[in-house]
Amino acid sequence: MKNYVIESLPDYFKQYKKSIKNPKKFWDKIADENFVWYQRWEKVLKHDMSEAKIEWFLNAKLNITKNCIDRHLSSRGSKHAIIFEPNNPEEATQYITYQDLYDRVGKMANVLRAQGIGKGDRVCIYLPMIPELAVAMLACARIGAIHTVVFAGFSASAVAARITDCDCKLVITSDGSYRGDKKIDLKGIVDEALKTCPSIGKVLVVKRTGSAVTMQEGRDEWIAPLLDAAPVDNIPEIMDSEDPLFILYTSGSTGKPKGMMHSCAGYMVYTAYTFKNVFNYKENDIYWCTADIGWITGHSYIVYGPLLNGATTVIFEGVPSYPQPDRFWEVIEKHKVTQFYTAPTAIRALAKESTEWVEKHDLSSLKVIGSVGEPINDEAWHWYNDHVGRKTSPIVDTWWQTETGGILISPLPYITPTKPTYATLPLPGVQPVLMDDKRNEITGNQVTGNLCIRFPWPGIARTIWGDHQRYKETYFTAFPGKYFTGDGALRDEVGYYRITGRVDDVIIVSGHNLGTAPIEDSINEHPAVAESAIVGYPHDIKGNALYGFVILKESGEGRDRDNLRKEINQLISEQIGPIAKLDKIQFVSGLPKTRSGKIMRRILRKIAEGDFSNFGDISTLLNPEIVEEIKNEKL
Ligand code: WT7
Repeated sequence: MKNYVIESLPDYFKQYKKSIKNPKKFWDKIADENFVWYQRWEKVLKHDMSEAKIEWFLNAKLNITKNCIDRHLSSRGSKHAIIFEPNNPEEATQYITYQDLYDRVGKMANVLRAQGIGKGDRVCIYLPMIPELAVAMLACARIGAIHTVVFAGFSASAVAARITDCDCKLVITSDGSYRGDKKIDLKGIVDEALKTCPSIGKVLVVKRTGSAVTMQEGRDEWIAPLLDAAPVDNIPEIMDSEDPLFILYTSGSTGKPKGMMHSCAGYMVYTAYTFKNVFNYKENDIYWCTADIGWITGHSYIVYGPLLNGATTVIFEGVPSYPQPDRFWEVIEKHKVTQFYTAPTAIRALAKESTEWVEKHDLSSLKVIGSVGEPINDEAWHWYNDHVGRKTSPIVDTWWQTETGGILISPLPYITPTKPTYATLPLPGVQPVLMDDKRNEITGNQVTGNLCIRFPWPGIARTIWGDHQRYKETYFTAFPGKYFTGDGALRDEVGYYRITGRVDDVIIVSGHNLGTAPIEDSINEHPAVAESAIVGYPHDIKGNALYGFVILKESGEGRDRDNLRKEINQLISEQIGPIAKLDKIQFVSGLPKTRSGKIMRRILRKIAEGDFSNFGDISTLLNPEIVEEIKNEKL
C-alpha cells in the first residue's frame, strides 16, 4: 500500500506537515490508492464548522463490505478473518476465514433483505461478543441498512430508548449470553424493551446459550434456519460516501443518549488508516482488542479497521477473570497474539492479582500493546509496560471518542518515544488546539486547557441522529469554528499531549462514558427521592466510581437507608444497566447550588473524595451553609 505507512519519526513529521498543509491532498491520495470504489469523488472535503456540516469524498460511491471482505478473497480467502474465543475455554475456538465471512455475511444480508430491510432502514443489534455480531453489522452495511449496536449489558429501558430514538424496524438478538460463570437472558430483556417499541416488526434470534425463551408468534424467529436456507450471493447496495453507516449511542451531559451517526466513506478511510499505523499491523499478525463491539472501540478496531486491512481479529466472548485471572494472558499465548488492545480498568484489575498469573504465560508474540477509554495512571502504565509489554512492546495510549470515529492522538509504535500517561502526538490530519475558558487559543508548550480540534478529519461523526442542533451545540459552539472534545489536556515541553479528563458532566467509569443526567433522572424516579446529584471519585480499579448525593422527600425520611440504597441501585440497573450503579450514596438535606440553580459539582467531588481542605470560593452559592452540613454528615 502506498503513501500509507509511516516509517520513522522523521517520516511522521514529514507526513504530519503535509497533512496539515494540504489535508485534502493528503486524504485524497490515501483514499484513492487503498480502497475499492464504484465511483470516485468529485470533491475531497466540504465543511462549515459553524454549522457543524462536514462531508468527505463527495459523491463517491462504495460499499464498505467490498473493502472489508470481497477484495481480500483472491489473496486472503483462506486466511482467518476472525478468531472467536468463547467464554468457556473448554469450548472450541472458531476460525472464520475471509471466504467463510463472505458466505456468512452474504447469507445474513439475504435474510435481512427477505425481511424487507433495505437501504436506510435501522436495525438494532443486541448481541453478545459472538461472530454473529460482526456478521450482522457487516450484513447491514452490505444492504445499506444502518446498524445500531446496543451493548448487551444495557437494560431493557436503555434498549427501548435507543430503538425508539432511531425508529428501528428489526432487532437481532440471542437467547442469552455468557459472561464468566453467569448466563444472561438477553431475549427476555428484548421482550421487555419491545413492550414500548411499536416500530419493531421482527426479532431474529441467534441461539447461543440454549436457554428457554418465549417466541412471540409472527414477530420472533430463530435465525439459523433462515440462514441455512438463504443463498450467499447478493449485489451489495451502492452507497454514497455520506450515506449513514451506523448510529452508536453515547451518553451526554443531558438526559437523552446521543445517537452519533457515522457515514460510509470517511469512516472507512480513517479507521483503516489509523488501524494500520497505530498498531503497526503486518500481514501475518494476530490482533486482539478486548473491548466490546457495543462500544466504538469494537466497531472501529475489532470489526472495520482490522477487516479493511485484511487482518486477523480476535473476538473474545468472556471476561478477564474467568475461569481464572490469567485468561487474557492465556489467550495471548494460545493464539500468539501480536497486538493487544485493552482498557486501563482491566489493567488495574489484573495488576491487583499476583504477577505469577502473567509470568506463567509466554507473551513473547506481543509486539504492540494498547490502552484506550480513559487516562491510564502512572502505576497501571508501568505494570502494563513491565509485565505485559516486558519492556519491549511499546504501549500505544490511544486517545479518541465515539464522536471521532477513530484514534486522534497516539504514539506510533517503534516510532514515537512513549512517555507514561501521555497519549503523545496527533496522528496525521489531526490538529489539536488548547483553548482557555475565554475562548483564546493557548499557544506554546507546558500549558493546559480545553482540548479542541481545529480541522475536520474523515472519521468525525456527521451528526446526532435526528438532532443536528444538539450536535452543533454540544461540539461546535463552546469554541466557535472548532470541535470541542469535552476533555482537558496538558501539552508538555516537547508538544506531547496528556489527557487530564473530562471538563464536563461526563464521568468515565471502567472506561464507560456515563453522563450524570440520565443516572440522576433514574434516581429521581424513586418515589422517596426528591432530588439527586452524582459525581465521580477516584477508584483504584474502575478509575472513577459513582457517588450519589440524594435528597429524600418527606415521605421517604422514615425509611431504612440501606434498603433505599438498594432500591435506588436496582432502579439504575433496570433503567440504564449495572455499570451505572452507585458505589456510595449519601442522603443529604440540600445540594450546593449557584444562584442560577446549577449544582456545584466541583464541591461535591471534593466531598466525595474526602478532601475537605479547600472548597474554593463558595460565596456565590445560594446556600453556602449546606457545604458544612454535607461534609459533617459524611464524617
Ligand atoms: C472519552 C470518550 C475512545 C473509545 C472508548 C471511549 C476518554 C478515551 C482515552 C485515553 C485519556 C481517554 C476521554 C474521551 N478517553 N481514551 N487514551 N486517555 N482519556 O469512547 O465512550 O466516547 O469516551 O474517553 O475522556 O473524551 P467514549
